[in-house]
Amino acid sequence: MLKTILAILANQHFDVEIAKKIASQIECDFFIDRAPENLDTHPYVLMVDGNKIYLQQTGRKAPGPIFAEFTEGAVDHRRKFGGGKGQMIAKAVGIKAGVYPNILDATAGLGKDSFVLASLGSQVTLLERSPIAYCLLENGLNRARDFAQENDPELLTVINRMQLIQQSSHDYIASLKTENLPDVIYLDPMFPEREKSAEVKKEMAAFHSLVGKDEDADLLLPLALAHVNYRVVVKRPRKAPFLNNQTPSFQLEGKSSRFDIYTVKKMPEKLTRS
Ligand SMILES: C[S@@+](CC[C@H](N)C(=O)[O-])C[C@H]1O[C@@H](n2cnc3c(N)ncnc32)[C@H](O)[C@@H]1O
Repeated sequence: MLKTILAILANQHFDVEIAKKIASQIECDFFIDRAPENLDTHPYVLMVDGNKIYLQQTGRKAPGPIFAEFTEGAVDHRRKFGGGKGQMIAKAVGIKAGVYPNILDATAGLGKDSFVLASLGSQVTLLERSPIAYCLLENGLNRARDFAQENDPELLTVINRMQLIQQSSHDYIASLKTENLPDVIYLDPMFPEREKSAEVKKEMAAFHSLVGKDEDADLLLPLALAHVNYRVVVKRPRKAPFLNNQTPSFQLEGKSSRFDIYTVKKMPEKLTRS
């Protein structure tokens, strides 16, 4: 099914080997030297362009590319000037001075939330099951690591706190042993109505339609609650119903989204993980 809607495109001949590898992993066709606006066989392409991989809608009026980015733009600005531990996401997961829970982000996507959590001092394991999202995220992390090694030791520390795994969270969480439970499990599954919202940029609509609607997301909540030390945090659009129709212990509400927090056990006053 993916084969009919997505192709892999190598921008130049030296990108071919990487493009071929991705094409075999995702089981898609690949093309060389074709501009996305001239490709009328597939509505989307995954473009390999030097060290950068991005998702692009094809056709003349297509919106801009989608990629994971940690060295510039909104997430970089937020790391440097974004309010630190005062941010709502920090309160939701319980990060504060002396308390740095390790976090399992079971719906990693393009890694923005995980990056914020890692920049606040937590170790984060990121799980992503979509081969497209995984490919974009892995590429964003690799580029950030390369950049940071040369230019930004602080950023390198943040990137080194993030460990990405390509796996379904249902399988991963179910296999966790009692002695290895994460302190916090963070869930931000796709929400179907997001696609209709004016807030969702056109570019992101491409990502949503390829990655899918996460219709099995309800099942994650009871599973997560049975495999976590302290709390499960669910990010939802502000007016969305509770995940799995389950009422949280408390909520934090922002302008467009909210956090539903399900407490299993009180977090200790001091908590540092390496
Ligand atoms: C809304 S996005 C998450 C956005 C992310 N919080 C960010 O800041 O970029 C949801 C992502 O979770 C992934 N996902 C949903 N259910 C999953 C599961 N059971 N296992 C692994 N990944 C899952 C989807 O493939 C999608 O990429």
